[in-house]
Amino acid sequence: MILRNALSSVTLMVALVLFSACGRQEVLTGDFSLVSPLPRFIEADEPIEPPVVITSRTRIGYPEGDAALRDAAGLLAEQLGLYFGSPLRTVPSGSRATGIRLSVDPELGIGRDLADFQQQECYRIQSDADGITISGSSITGVLHGIQTLVKALPVPDAPGRLRFALPAGTVFDYPEFSYRAFMLDCGRHFFPAEYIKQLIDILALHNLNYFHWHLSEDQGWRLEIKKYPRLTEIGSRRPGTQDPQGRLDDIPVSGFYTQEEAREIVRYAAERGITVIPEIDLPGHTTAALAAYPSLGCTGGPYEVATRYGVLDDVLCVGKEETMTFVKDVLTEVMDIFPSEFIHLGGDECPKVRWADCPDCQRKIRELGLKDNGSKTKEELLQSWFSSELEAFLAEHGRRMICWNDVLCDWGNKVVGEPSKRTVIAGWMRPVSSAIAAREGYDAIYCPIDQCYFSAAEINRLPLSECIRRVYDMVPAPEGLTPEERRHILGVEACIWTERVADTDSLEWRLLPRLSTLSEIQWADPASRSVNANGLNAYLPRLRHMARLYEARCWNAREEMPGEDEKSEEKT
Ligand code: ACM
Ligand code: ZN
Repeated sequence: MILRNALSSVTLMVALVLFSACGRQEVLTGDFSLVSPLPRFIEADEPIEPPVVITSRTRIGYPEGDAALRDAAGLLAEQLGLYFGSPLRTVPSGSRATGIRLSVDPELGIGRDLADFQQQECYRIQSDADGITISGSSITGVLHGIQTLVKALPVPDAPGRLRFALPAGTVFDYPEFSYRAFMLDCGRHFFPAEYIKQLIDILALHNLNYFHWHLSEDQGWRLEIKKYPRLTEIGSRRPGTQDPQGRLDDIPVSGFYTQEEAREIVRYAAERGITVIPEIDLPGHTTAALAAYPSLGCTGGPYEVATRYGVLDDVLCVGKEETMTFVKDVLTEVMDIFPSEFIHLGGDECPKVRWADCPDCQRKIRELGLKDNGSKTKEELLQSWFSSELEAFLAEHGRRMICWNDVLCDWGNKVVGEPSKRTVIAGWMRPVSSAIAAREGYDAIYCPIDQCYFSAAEINRLPLSECIRRVYDMVPAPEGLTPEERRHILGVEACIWTERVADTDSLEWRLLPRLSTLSEIQWADPASRSVNANGLNAYLPRLRHMARLYEARCWNAREEMPGEDEKSEEKT
């Protein structure tokens, strides 16, 4: 797939070079109202003559000596270069006439009644007789403006020398939520580091600002940890995968990210305005770690890297001192690689059967004075103690723990845990899970299965229009919450779990075009969805425009569109 993409990009470029050599110069006019997520304010000015144009000779200017804006100019030059056959030129502003200028204006958005995070990511695009200026209140704002400009241009499909025109006017924009994420499970299947970069490009195009990287699972440990080399020597390989009847397919799955690769991905993502949040899932979903270091389990093993999916009984023995040392050592290396304030420590689906029979876990329970209390068993309280210890450890290092909602509430929406109030709760079980967290005073992330698990097979079997509608209709911060509770909903995250996603084609088929719909929720003004009963219809032209962009970049988006052929084919 990577090769296919590379080849296809080259083919596209060659085709475009040929088009431009043909001599006919077609003018393609940009349209900001086709951008997804929809920008908040699009103000048209009187048309100007000659109009503002972007051609292969347009230069992109950045303030001399500003490395971040120079790199941003390079990104824009590359993206526009896809349409011209080679990147546009970038130059320090002022040295020569430039058609597009980038700048940071920290005052941008001040006085407009924005939340701090909105002010920090806002941007403006101005198109007038002087050309095009993209200003951001920060470099991140500029990066969002760059993506909006790229998305506003029509995707060329006919021979001719390319000349894009942009209507005169101003776009001003800022996000709805501060947390706009996508999670990929690299434990069940492994995706090479080079591909993760391409995924980051996809996320950046949609104004996301977090990539949540699920790096450890029962079926594979994917991050090099120098102090514990067996985690990847042993834990990153399995001989195959069992089907629901227990038959092994004999297709080996292996792979891990070296620390150097992970650092490079962190750098690559940061250059595109994206923070990488690593997840080390603890204390459940740890069979691969136990296979590498059996003494970390309650029974001492032996254990094998899991070949079947589901919730497995063998988990870390949290009664042993050795386990706490291991976890803190691992997290020390993780924090060294990933500068993100947020670190995800899982906490989901941790059966207690081993702990109930384990002398070490029971001794710890006695030491801590934990007792069954009617709503929680002493083993459940042991998990609360474990996650509080880790929350405090991360806090000592200036980090913040995210956990799945299991640490707070259950499938029946009952509050069953008391994690520290600094914990961020990712509400995955039910649409209401994150609202429960917000009511309890926790910051929360909205990521319920029904709407945000893009890997959910039963949803993928539905026509695309239905998949899109599920995302488009989501209400992450419902009216029933008080304004203060609503502020606890930091944002929205989509997740792809990879039990049934073994390659990049399958991954992209699930991700696109729904990521565009997700970005409308994460970024755009909710009023843009409720202006009339046809909110979804108003979005469809933007969705179709994005589909053309995906095609031009050779991303494997699901193809049938609402209102067209709605046959569905769940990919495995
Ligand atoms: C989860 O889906 N187990 C978070
Ligand atoms: Zn134990």
